[in-house]
Amino acid sequence: MDRKILLTMDGRDIEANPGQTILDVAKENGIFIPTLCHYAKTTNVGACRVCVVEVKNARSMVASCCMPVSPGMEIKTDTKAVRDAQRLIVELLWSSGDHNCLTCEQNGTCELQDLIYWLKIEEPRFKIESPGYAPENTNTMISRDLNKCILCGRCVRACNEIQVNEILDFSMRGSRAKVGPAFDSDYIGSECFFCGECADVCPVGAITFRQARFAGRPWEIKKIRTTCTYCGVGCQMDLNVHQGKIVKVSGNRSYGEPNDGSLCVKGRFGIDFMDHPDRLKTPLIRKKGELVEAGWDEALDYIAAKFKTIRDQDGPDALAGLSSARCTNEENYLFQKFMRAAIGTNNVDHCARL
Ligand code: FES
Repeated sequence: MDRKILLTMDGRDIEANPGQTILDVAKENGIFIPTLCHYAKTTNVGACRVCVVEVKNARSMVASCCMPVSPGMEIKTDTKAVRDAQRLIVELLWSSGDHNCLTCEQNGTCELQDLIYWLKIEEPRFKIESPGYAPENTNTMISRDLNKCILCGRCVRACNEIQVNEILDFSMRGSRAKVGPAFDSDYIGSECFFCGECADVCPVGAITFRQARFAGRPWEIKKIRTTCTYCGVGCQMDLNVHQGKIVKVSGNRSYGEPNDGSLCVKGRFGIDFMDHPDRLKTPLIRKKGELVEAGWDEALDYIAAKFKTIRDQDGPDALAGLSSARCTNEENYLFQKFMRAAIGTNNVDHCARL
């Protein structure tokens, strides 16, 4: 077993594991260090420098998210110099974009907004002219407003490392630097799969979910965990409900497996069917060539009678059952059990095999 690393953090003696960063160790020991570009599921890039701390004998402050711990380190996370540096960094980020919180969809869950408040910054001392990008609303799922982008690169890493779609990257230089698909295309004109991971990880209001625009503030939203029904993977998702309506779907991060907070395009954006007027809400029985609405009892009695007639006349193998990946494992188990034990046939299959 690797030997422990002994260090001090804010005067406390701490044991750490080799390979851990200062940020990892701080978190493990209940010491808060603010972050913005850090995203635990992706590589650390040290882009924002919000997480700086003082390390004795280091030439300058270090980004705690990227710096591995070493024996004897003396780390200070809460000095005036650290806070001054963090304030300056956050002020510059605030100044260099058009962060109009009043209309921003991210208001209430914006990590930059939270940091500004936490660092008690009244207003930025600088004013850097916004590049004046036109907001992108050319698709029905994801909106982009690059005037709010802080270039943390979380979306780029989520796209390339979590979903491995490799659509987003940085382009241009200096104050014109921006993130997006190749050749400065909009999302719809690119190879984007619309998994929505970029919007999910964006800490500010630069990439947001279009369906949720003006559909309810974060503090009004009730999150209900459920299992996605689009396929058999069993992804855990949170239905974001406002006034009885699902306005957004986000990956559930606390449950872990199997999706660890990520979703695909269907799970993330395929919510329109819920309230669609064409949606079937009752069983239909064909009577005289016409599909007629029926109650559940009537429909189940009808199916049972038909099954029984066919089985009695032609034997159980005259019946076959095909189940769906949109059902849960448990439902599929019950279905095959029903076909084998109740009907008496092994003629059972599943759409995922086709
Ligand atoms: Fe460490 Fe951004 S969070 S540099």
